[in-house]
Amino acid sequence: MRNKKVIAVSFFGWLTLLLAACVKQEVPAEARVPVLPESPYRYDTLPIDITFDPFGGHEIDNDVATLGRVLFYETQLSINNRVSCGSCHFQHLAFSDRTARSKGFLDRLTPRNTSPIVNVGLQEAFFWDLRQSELSDMVLDPIANHIEMGLEPRPYMLAKLKNLPYYAPLFAKAFGDSVITEDRVSDALEMFMRALVSVNTRFDIGRNTGFVHFTEEEELGRQLFFFKFPCSACHGGSELSGLSEAANVGLDMDYEDDGVAGIHESGDPLDGWFKIPTLRNIEFTAPYMHDGRFATLEEVVEFYNSGMQPHPQLSTMLREHTDGGFFSLGTPLGSQSALDPLGRQPLRMHMTPEEKRALVTFMKTLSDHNFIRDPRFSDPFVIR
Ligand code: HEC
Ligand code: HEC
Repeated sequence: MRNKKVIAVSFFGWLTLLLAACVKQEVPAEARVPVLPESPYRYDTLPIDITFDPFGGHEIDNDVATLGRVLFYETQLSINNRVSCGSCHFQHLAFSDRTARSKGFLDRLTPRNTSPIVNVGLQEAFFWDLRQSELSDMVLDPIANHIEMGLEPRPYMLAKLKNLPYYAPLFAKAFGDSVITEDRVSDALEMFMRALVSVNTRFDIGRNTGFVHFTEEEELGRQLFFFKFPCSACHGGSELSGLSEAANVGLDMDYEDDGVAGIHESGDPLDGWFKIPTLRNIEFTAPYMHDGRFATLEEVVEFYNSGMQPHPQLSTMLREHTDGGFFSLGTPLGSQSALDPLGRQPLRMHMTPEEKRALVTFMKTLSDHNFIRDPRFSDPFVIR
């Protein structure tokens, strides 16, 4: 029994040493300390008056969110102390990454494009294949993930946090005593995710004023997005914060990544279906799509205009209407059948150059320039 323990300990010891030797550590862990405001930032307030609740009814506790912020930027939550959540989810990129696939703790690449994080209170399922519906479970997944942060098993994660002197007071403030548990780590990370609310955009302000301050091009783009082209049928839901539903948009005839089909055992025909992503802050989150294949918004618009493939699962929303008309709402999104019984061809939108420009300009009214600079969401660590 004793021997086994020694073997187990030395196995983890060796593994850590081996990893540390393989990978150059830029900053010794002891040198990184969080610097926080005297009284906690207010995460429970909104910068502008809006008609919806971007927290989705969840109470925001400022002390728990503060702890979550520190954990989000904590590199010790990866096995070799190199990677934090913030290493792939960059604030200045609206919590996405600039590359098609992100580098994990050993520089291995994630299989998909890093999702931005925004208004998660209005979403019910997470990841491109919607595989997680519980945000509190979801936030621990990347820590254990063998590509992202590689920190397993959980007791080892807790032991690492207990070794860092700044956590005891942060846990005490957040939860009443300084005990560090897995549930508290996930609650705090979840709270910080919920605090990442972005509503300070020309679009949201516009809604309060009847869009009178929109330029002509922005207004044209808005009309096209909501009324002429089918964009809002998918992207308009949950206050444009992304849907907990998925669709196949005909990127390929044969998808390399099965998407939602990969997590359904029932053999549902959900091949090539991916989460309908938010278009909030889309200006900052290039490259686009689940695999980051498009570098610019212009490329995405051209894809919808002329590039959709006749994949058998292509959404009925994106097929030619049988009477030659543009688009009809037809079946509601949630219950649309995967296969179009009429076998209609992919929609060709025949956009003019002016229309394409206007769509892109409109999408940029969804940018929240304060969100990507807000000190409440920034990396609190400094190097001493
Ligand atoms: C190595 C890069 C990397 C790290 C580190 C990382 N993530 Fe992610 N994150 C991703 C990728 C890639 C996806 C999309 C994965 C997928 O859909 O299969 C993602 C998706 C997400 C989503 C889903 C958003 C949505 O709209 O569905 C959230 C929330 C999230 N990550 C939070 C976190 C948290 C919290 C941490 C730290 C505990 C973290 N991430 C660490 C790369 C990373
Ligand atoms: C049938 C639902 C549907 C319709 C209609 C639709 N989209 Fe999408 N959109 C999606 C899905 C699903 C994705 C992700 C696809 C993937 O990665 O496989 C996506 C991705 C995008 C992205 C990239 C988002 C990112 O974070 O990478 C942009 C931009 C976009 N759509 C804009 C538009 C515009 C503009 C229109 C109208 C011309 C439109 N969409 C119509 C479902 C739809």
